[in-house]
Order: sequence, then C-alpha cells, then structure tokens
Amino acid sequence: MGTRWTCHGPFLLVLFCYGQLLPWLRAGPSRDIIMSTSFSTGRFYNETVAKAFLQFYDQTAQIVWSQFMEATWNYVTNITKKNREEMTPSLLLHKDSERSKHMLYFGTQARLFKTSRFQDPDVKRLLSKLLNIDKAALPQDELQEYNQLLAYMETTYSMAQVCLNEGPCMPLEPDLQEVMATSRDQKELLWAWQGWRDAVGRQLRITFERYVQLSNKAANLNGYKDMGALWRSKYESETLEDDLEQLYQELQPLYLNLHAYVRRALHRHYGPKIINPRGPIPAHLLGNMWAQSWVNILDLVLPFPKKPPEDITKIMKSQHWKPSKMFEEAEKFFTSLGMLSTPPSFWKNSMMERPADGREVECHASAWDFYNGRDFRIKKCTEVTVEDLLSIFHQMGHIQYFLQYRNLSVIFRAGANPAFEEAVGSVITLSASSHKHLLNRGLLRRARKEEVNFLMSVALEKIAFIPFSYLMDLFRWKVFDGTIQKNVYNQEWWNLRLKYQGLCPPIPRTEEDFDPGAKFHISASVPYLRYFLSLVLQFQFHESLCKASGHIGPLHRCDIYNSKKAGKLLEDVLKLGSSKPWPEVLQKITGQTQMSTKALMTYFKPLLNWLVTENVRQGEILGWPDFSCTFEACHFFFFNLFMIDIEREREAEIQAEGEKQAPCRELDAGLDPETPGSRPLPKAGAKPLSHPGIPELAI
Ligand SMILES: *[C@@H]1O[C@H](CO)[C@@H](O)[C@H](O)[C@H]1NC(C)=O
Ligand SMILES: *[C@@H]1O[C@H](CO)[C@@H](O)[C@H](O)[C@H]1NC(C)=O
Ligand SMILES: *[C@@H]1O[C@H](CO)[C@@H](O)[C@H](O)[C@H]1NC(C)=O
Ligand SMILES: [Zn+2]
Repeated sequence: MGTRWTCHGPFLLVLFCYGQLLPWLRAGPSRDIIMSTSFSTGRFYNETVAKAFLQFYDQTAQIVWSQFMEATWNYVTNITKKNREEMTPSLLLHKDSERSKHMLYFGTQARLFKTSRFQDPDVKRLLSKLLNIDKAALPQDELQEYNQLLAYMETTYSMAQVCLNEGPCMPLEPDLQEVMATSRDQKELLWAWQGWRDAVGRQLRITFERYVQLSNKAANLNGYKDMGALWRSKYESETLEDDLEQLYQELQPLYLNLHAYVRRALHRHYGPKIINPRGPIPAHLLGNMWAQSWVNILDLVLPFPKKPPEDITKIMKSQHWKPSKMFEEAEKFFTSLGMLSTPPSFWKNSMMERPADGREVECHASAWDFYNGRDFRIKKCTEVTVEDLLSIFHQMGHIQYFLQYRNLSVIFRAGANPAFEEAVGSVITLSASSHKHLLNRGLLRRARKEEVNFLMSVALEKIAFIPFSYLMDLFRWKVFDGTIQKNVYNQEWWNLRLKYQGLCPPIPRTEEDFDPGAKFHISASVPYLRYFLSLVLQFQFHESLCKASGHIGPLHRCDIYNSKKAGKLLEDVLKLGSSKPWPEVLQKITGQTQMSTKALMTYFKPLLNWLVTENVRQGEILGWPDFSCTFEACHFFFFNLFMIDIEREREAEIQAEGEKQAPCRELDAGLDPETPGSRPLPKAGAKPLSHPGIPELAI
C-alpha cells in the first residue's frame, strides 16, 4: 500500500505498531480475540479471517466513534469562552484524528482481502463499505489543512451576523429568519437577504476553492474521479443522474403551476415594478432566506382566504404545551405503531431546550447516534410551535432508525441510502399533520377544514422545495467535476436557480459574491440529494403504510396512528439499516424497486387540479420562457445603484429594452443600503423560527 503505511500486515504486528498511536488497540474486549487468533502473513485473506477482522473493526469502531460523538456533543452544547478557546477544540480535533486513523487503518487493511471467492454476501458488503475512507485518505498535512478549512467554513456560517449601523447585530437564527418569514416590506427583506450573503458567502469564496481541490484529492485517493462521484456512490446506482432528471421532469408540472400561482399573488401584493407576471420571481420575497420553503407566505397566497386554517400554535400555547411534552407526543406516535420506545438515557441526555444556565449552544436541530447501542440524543432549541412539533417528529424518525438498526455492525448503521434516513420522520409527519390526527389529538377545534388551503400549505413546503433540493448537488457535482470553473461559481449558481427554481437575484451579483456559501449545507460540506429523494420516497412510504393500515379515501387524509400493521412494515425495513441495496429494501415496503413520483402526484392531485383551473382562469404563462438573468444585465444595474446621476437615463433605456431586463429590474434605485431607516430593527421577543421545510441535519 501507500508509503505512509509501514504497519499493515498480521493483526498482532498491527496491534503492537498502532497500539502506540491508538489507545483503543491496547485495551478493550477486542484484544483477547486478536491475541487468541494465530495469524500468519501468508494466510491473511480467507473468509474466516475476514469475519474476525470485521468483528475487530466493530468493537474498536464503537469506542472510537462514540468518543468522537461525545466530544462533539460536549462542545456544541457548551460553547463557553473557555471551551471555545482552549480545551474542547483540541480534544475534538484529537478525537477526530483518532477516528481518521481508525478509518485509514481499517480501510487499508480491507483492501487486502480478495473477496471474489467469499460466500457470505454480508462479509463482502461490509468490506466494500470499509474501502471508502473519505477524507482520512489525505496525507497528514493536507488532512489537517482540510479539517481546518472545514471548521473555518462552518464556524464562519454559524457565527455570522448582520449588523445595523448603530448595532445591534442579528444572527441568522432567529432574527434574520424572522425577518425573511414575517416582513412584507421588500426593502427590509432585501436588507436581510443581501446582508446575510455579504456576511457569509463572500467570506467563504477563497476557502471554498481550496476545499474543492482537497475534496477532489481525497476522492481520487479513494478511487473516485471527483468528490461528486464519491457522494453519488452512496446511492449504488449506475443510472442515478438520469433517474433524477426523470423524477424531476415528472414533478415539474406541479412546481410550475405553483410557481405561476404564487407569482400572481406576489404581483398583487408587491406590484408590477417588482414582479413581472411572466418572469422569474425575485429570490427574497418567498418567506425564506434561500426561497427553499415558501410556507411562511401562506397568508399571501391562501386559495380560500375566508376560511383560514386554525392556528395550532395558539391552541398548543393555550393548552400549556412544554417542549418535553412535544417529544412525548412524537414518542407516542411511534409506540402507537408498535415501534420502539426511546431508552431513559435519551430523555436524560437530550437537549430539548436552549439551556437557561448561560451556556451558548449550537441550536441547529439534529439527531445523534453515539454508536454504542445505548446512547441516542436529540439537540434542539424547541419553541412551542406547530412547526417545531412537526420537526420533532422528523428528528424522532432518525432516532427510531438508530434504535432499529442498533444491533447491526457499525458499518451497516445507516439508512438504506441517505434519503431513507430523511424519509422516515417525514412520513410520520405526513400522518401527524393530517387533519384527522390533529383533531384526534385535540390540536384542532373545527371538525371540517378547507382541504385546498391545507394542501397549499403542504405544497409551499414540499413542492417549492423540489427544484432547490435538486440543484444544490447539481451545482456541487459540476463544481467538483470541473464543469463549473471557479471564475463563474456565482453566475452558474444563479443560472441553475433561474433554470430550475425560476428565481432571480433581487440585486446585482458579481464573482466577488459567493451566494451558494450562504447556505448551511454548502458551507458545512453536507450533501443535499438526500432531501430531494426523500421528498419522493416519503410519499411512496406513506401510500404503502396507509394501505397497510386499511386507509380508504384520499391519500392526504390518511393517518396511520395506532396501526400495528403499518408499524411492522416500516420496522422491518428500518432494521435492515444499510445491509442491503436500497432497491431491495424499497421493494419490501412498497413492492417496487424504483423511486417513483406516482404517490406524490396522487397526494397533491386535488391541489394540482385546483391550481391548473386557477392558472387557466388567470391566463397565466407557466414558467419564464422569455427571460434570462445574465450577470451583464445585473452589472449594469450595479453601476446604476451608485451612479444616481445617470440613473434616470438608464432607467429609460432599461424600460426600452423591455422584459429581457425585467428579472433584475426589481432593484429599487432609491434604496441606500447605508440608510438606517431602510433596515429593520430586531423584533421584540423575536423567537427562533423552525420551519419543517428546512431539512434538519442528522449528524
Ligand atoms: C483461514 O486462515 C486462518 C489463519 O491463517 C487459518 O487458521 C484457517 O484455518 C483458515 N481457514 C480456512 C477455512 O482456510
Ligand atoms: C461546560 O464546560 C465547563 C468547562 O468550561 C464545565 O465546567 C461545565 O461543567 C460544562 N457544563 C456542562 C453542562 O456540561
Ligand atoms: C438488540 O439486542 C438486544 C440484546 O440482545 C435485544 O435485547 C434487543 O431487542 C435488540 N434490538 C433490536 C432492535 O433488535
Ligand atoms: Zn433529517
């Protein structure tokens, strides 16, 4: 193997050699097994040895991984000044580097087995999964550099704030998100939108270029042509990219109809100077920093405004709900299906609220598996809102998966593919947010509700998310494979935003900006395809589970609560972890081996019918066929903004150029970004907003 390796070979040798570096090799139950097995160099490769090797891996991995998780947890839930500056980062880096060494060691050893003659398919699969060691393949100095720049990007994102002239400064959560969600003043929205991109995206641009280089180097060392290919390999499919495009094409009519309808409503609210009813929508008006979920502008687009939905958050508050009760509610759903309950340690160790003892914490909601079969936790700064309640259902779906596969080898403790992990909690949420369920649980008062209004709220979260969740990785795959060069990162980002989402930047962008970096999963290097596919999968699951539960009637009315049959079906699939190729797992639950949009289309059929009728009635044009949003056009405006003198002439010219310029025309020439009056003040009592539409990161 590579020159960095002087220590591969029989276990005993390895034990002595690496025992110096790695404490887990010196102690622990594995030692006896290894000691009592007499290995000799020549006979290293047979299947019996492979099994012992995998067992050895499993025992040590549980130790190394749980220590790493523990160190990470202790840091992110206790970011005191002292911890931030001294002990914790070095402990964390130490645990991270132990984990990398562990991966490197076992990944390298796994290459020595000739698996072609092995009988047990599990052994082959386990060994093949060990081969991918990700960043641990990098040489020591570059690994260190890579870790540092990953930390830099994520910290820059987490710590960024947008400041008013005379202070105060606003973090993304909750303040800027609150502005994006609730403000209907386009100047205020623009201020938050632009401020966030100046504070984060621009700062990351240079680092990101180096990140791409090192990512690709790590991918090459793992035998992949670039990091995008390594990410895609998790889906074990030869036809992934074509299949994705196919799914996307099937979903497009839904998105285009929603887009046209919402554009009309925004046109009504913001007027023709800001919205062109035949063009793309400016990206800052959709209720969300990245325009990925539009549920916060439901009030502007409600199909039947005279029958507004009941305010469930208000009902929860009047019933004195507490965060712990919200977790119990989610737990109750899973146990009603006959699925596993969480152990007492979950309730003791989880962080369900922002601590009141002055500790700073990272609030980004996440579910944690500590890989020791005992310890599972959720970290969330819960507020008593219906959005948070549904987000807890989603997180508890991750925990249920952890519980179900906890007895498998650590290597198999993952979803059948990453999208399965996201779909579990979401499928439960589909039932939990149904009218029937909420009524049963005392969270609604009125027995009837306006169904198109309800489906609209689901669509604003899930249908609006389709193109965004797709383009996030389309962009990065092209960056990693060199199709998108670094001198056009931002332009190509906006080309995709225009092509798929029908959005334009509200103000000129340049290559000084790096707007993709203003999204968490790009700065934190988290692949995103899982969220796109989970959208499709969750409806496939939902349809199958509803059928198993004996549901009849429209799919959006189904609630599988209490159905042991549905629970059993789901459980049998979760137990498999990643031990089988996902099409096999999918078949167990749905009878199909392919991801399909059929169930999703069935669910939204009543809404699509309504939207089509409405759009025809209004004479809408679907899409934005005659528009482009070139940087050149935007540059033009950029100068405009600062050369107020020539502004008037220019405006006349632009008018004359007509609609081609319109996507960028939204610019309000009167807005001076330095005028304090054009900026919002932090809202008194602003609360952290959590949108069910923002996929939570499961660590
Ligand atoms: C596999 O290799 C080990 C160690 O060399 C040896 O003890 C064992 O007999 C071998 N097993 C088979 C089935 O060849
Ligand atoms: C937070 O870290 C400090 C050390 O800086 C430690 O003394 C304290 O016990 C920790 N608190 C919790 C709740 O873990
Ligand atoms: C895991 O193994 C333990 C101990 O054998 C057993 O009690 C538990 O039910 C198993 N869990 C699952 C989910 O299979
Ligand atoms: Zn998730």
